[in-house]
Amino acid sequence: MPKPQETAVYTHGHHPSVLRSHTWRTAANSAAYLLDRLEPGMKILDVGCGPGTITADLAALVPDGHVTGVDRAPGVLERARATAAARGLANVDFAVADVHALDYPDGTFCVVHAHQVLQHVGDPVGALREMRRVTRPGGLVAVRDCDYAAMTWYPASAGMDAWLDLYRRVARANGGEPDAGRRLKSWALRAGFTDVTATSGTWTFSTAGERRWWSELWAERTVASVYAALATGGGHATDADLRAVSAAWREWAEQPDGWFGVMHGEILCRNEA
Ligand SMILES: C[S@@+](CC[C@H](N)C(=O)[O-])C[C@H]1O[C@@H](n2cnc3c(N)ncnc32)[C@H](O)[C@@H]1O
Repeated sequence: MPKPQETAVYTHGHHPSVLRSHTWRTAANSAAYLLDRLEPGMKILDVGCGPGTITADLAALVPDGHVTGVDRAPGVLERARATAAARGLANVDFAVADVHALDYPDGTFCVVHAHQVLQHVGDPVGALREMRRVTRPGGLVAVRDCDYAAMTWYPASAGMDAWLDLYRRVARANGGEPDAGRRLKSWALRAGFTDVTATSGTWTFSTAGERRWWSELWAERTVASVYAALATGGGHATDADLRAVSAAWREWAEQPDGWFGVMHGEILCRNEA
């Protein structure tokens, strides 16, 4: 039987405006729900690790253990290796892999983690089954994804409404599920987990510096990344639409009372096999 493989197109790509967002992430701001479950000798797999800043933090938290970061995109792993080397971490390595068919024997890892990955894959339930397969009995599968429809901001902006509507249409056309956060628990139950702890966590962008940083990520990504090409190429938007969305982000960031909340779903699933 052929190995299952990714059917979705990764909506964001790895443009500098995307990597600025990913490299801001830490275990503290993106995996807090998992941290009190970690023990120094654990063996961890970080699936869809991207540029590896969370991976490196996890490695520092298991100094007697080991972390392997895997991603489907080979290029971004060079960045992840450089991050780990700059931090002097010797207990981390990286490899190319598709979450739907991981090249590890059953029960290899104590924890299998994925942050902002299942929203981009074609078969999130199959991905969770495969993550469980490589988790040892009693170990944990830990997943966190944002939920675009639950993102909210102030002040109201028609241009930002257009951004959200466009993003969700493009992500779905690419085979992903942008409103993944609310679905994680359901996907885990469908994957056969019976011990699932489901929580939520947020990021907030409110100060002038936070608003500028967050809005520039989207203002730039909307006109100058693979996302822009997918939006226009798929007939979802014109170049003028994208420029208007980009301008709306910058206008929002100028509002002194501006506030943006990003809601995430989180699941900790014990492998009871
Ligand atoms: C939004 S980024 C998250 C990166 C990192 N986990 C973080 O939060 O900073 C999603 C990553 O998942 C990777 N990815 C997408 N589909 C994948 C798949 N089927 N298997 C493994 N990685 C995948 C992408 O290449 C990308 O680097």
